[in-house]
Amino acid sequence: MAISISILRKIIIPCLAILVLFAGACERGSGSGDKVSEEKEEVVVYSSRIEELIRPAFDAFTKETGIKVKYTTGKEEELLQRLKSEGENSPADILITVDAGNLWRAAENEVFQPIESAILSENIPENLRDQENRWFALTIRSRTIMYNTEKVSPEELSTYEALGDSKWKERLALRTSAKVYNQSLVASMIASLGEEEAEKVVKGWMANDPEIFGSDVKMLEAMAAGQKDVAIANTYYLGRLLKEDPELPLAVFWPNQDDRGAHVNVSGAGITKNSPNKDNAVKLLEFLSSAKAQKMFAETNIEYPVNPDAELHELLKEWGDFKRDDLNVSELGSNQVEAVKIMDRAGYK
Ligand SMILES: [Fe+2]
Repeated sequence: MAISISILRKIIIPCLAILVLFAGACERGSGSGDKVSEEKEEVVVYSSRIEELIRPAFDAFTKETGIKVKYTTGKEEELLQRLKSEGENSPADILITVDAGNLWRAAENEVFQPIESAILSENIPENLRDQENRWFALTIRSRTIMYNTEKVSPEELSTYEALGDSKWKERLALRTSAKVYNQSLVASMIASLGEEEAEKVVKGWMANDPEIFGSDVKMLEAMAAGQKDVAIANTYYLGRLLKEDPELPLAVFWPNQDDRGAHVNVSGAGITKNSPNKDNAVKLLEFLSSAKAQKMFAETNIEYPVNPDAELHELLKEWGDFKRDDLNVSELGSNQVEAVKIMDRAGYK
């Protein structure tokens, strides 16, 4: 017995070690190349969306694929600067952010790479992705008209333009023009109406001495308290407030249904130029565009899914179907500089 243990130690174990090394070398030398075998089974996401909005869908992805999702959350601008300064050494594979204006800016800063994916093209309508496939929308929200149901009847409302009617004098609430959401709204009007008409609309709003708020939530709360009668805000903010208190005297109105439709904007994502785990990053984006993940991803924030096959949140079903402005959302970014100038000239703070 003593001899056989000695043989085991001296001969068999070294032989096994050599075999393992040899097999490892063969694996590295074969198949789809060095880059792929070095890819870790993970994907790294920088997200300007907070953890509670992204985590459920990421967990579902990991459960289905075994690929781990590591994420860092932060403000849009910080994450973009971080990606730029990290350059080729960036660990990030995906940037998730909100507003087509921010996605456009990230693409302009060349932090994304174009992605050809039949699944993404199938699941995401063409007007909701970058024309060069550098980013893809993941959820839709409308920046639309909302009103106090005790003070306004929906028959009094029609279009964004008509909020410049003098009947809304001192009754209108707007969020600050510094917010990208409003820059995108004005950018959409530049695309549809031209610069001159868009400027007239903004000047019309200003002529009604609107109260300017720092956040959509504060604005809607003030309207619920009866301080203002009509406002322009994102649908999910109203959704969140009504979820907490369904009795609030607030309702959504879909404007411009006889022409371009209500303004919509998106949250979305792109794969970074230097993505170390690109295959996994594509898999995650494809997963997030699937009807199953879309329901989860959109529902956590009461947003509209981009995939038309995904089920809507109950509240959004109640709000009914509406005509959306189907402008390619890339144009919201490219018209933004002009939008800011228009708001400035109109005295919109
Ligand atoms: Fe928001």
